[in-house]
Amino acid sequence: MKRLEGKVAIVTGGGGGIGGAVVRRMVSEGARVAVADVFEESARRVAEPLGDSALAVQFDAASAESVKAMVEKTVSHFGRLDILHNNAAMTDPVKSPQDTTTVDIPLPIWQEILDINLTGYMLGCKYAIPHMVAGGGGSIVNTASNSGSAGDLARIAYGATKGAIITLTRYVATQHGAQNVRCNSVAPGVVLTEALEKTVPGLKDIIKRHILTPEFGTPDDIAALVVFLASDESRYITGENISISGGGLVHQPHYADLRAFMESAA
Ligand SMILES: NC(=O)c1ccc[n+]([C@@H]2O[C@H](COP(=O)([O-])OP(=O)(O)OC[C@H]3O[C@@H](n4cnc5c(N)ncnc54)[C@H](O)[C@@H]3O)[C@@H](O)[C@H]2O)c1
Repeated sequence: MKRLEGKVAIVTGGGGGIGGAVVRRMVSEGARVAVADVFEESARRVAEPLGDSALAVQFDAASAESVKAMVEKTVSHFGRLDILHNNAAMTDPVKSPQDTTTVDIPLPIWQEILDINLTGYMLGCKYAIPHMVAGGGGSIVNTASNSGSAGDLARIAYGATKGAIITLTRYVATQHGAQNVRCNSVAPGVVLTEALEKTVPGLKDIIKRHILTPEFGTPDDIAALVVFLASDESRYITGENISISGGGLVHQPHYADLRAFMESAA
């Protein structure tokens, strides 16, 4: 039996790199999936090759009405809802770079990132949970980030939303566990997506010195963890944040420098 046989899932940001990999993996495990994204074309590109197992749904995570309509459309199309993967994030190429420091970030950018990355996740839970409870329970998997657990030189709004997602996850798990709704978050470090491939090559090299695995993770690595947390195989895990980042946050801050020093001394 496949791990998600008979289950219905929503993947937000399903038209993107990680979301698309999660959708394909969920369908291969037997789920029927709503591919929900602000860009209808991206959602269709992921959904169409999967036939009747996937439904492209355009929605805006920053709008309560739109999130509600997206959940209702999924339930009326597939008949139930078992899994919500909140995964969308603001990736606008003009706005995202303005997410800098607390002194410099324009307030409208701060607010928009909070609306999409954080309030959007709360709204997904708000409208999905009653359907999950009606069906006997469910599993929510939120995409956080290692940026939610440690400071960085830029992206203050992004980091703040990712930290808040880890806390939101614990509250949802606590408040709805008795209704058989689990809620966990996954916190990727750097993942090899098209977007990363396009960034400054030097950045990739710097980050690579700080991970413990020989290679960066891929969207398929994230999808494997999300599917595990969505499935009943993880039925005793709730409220957790699982970092999936090649050990990027587990070592001493001097790790990369010390390693370079030891190699040069050898
Ligand atoms: N790629 C990485 O290295 C990395 C690292 C840590 C965390 N993450 C997280 O993983 C998740 C997926 O990121 P990705 O790398 O696949 O990026 P991506 O840009 O490929 O996917 C993000 C998706 O969200 C959608 N989206 C943006 N605004 C939206 C809105 N208002 N409403 C609905 N959908 C909207 C985009 O259209 C896009 O399809 C994000 O939450 C991101 O923060 C990624």
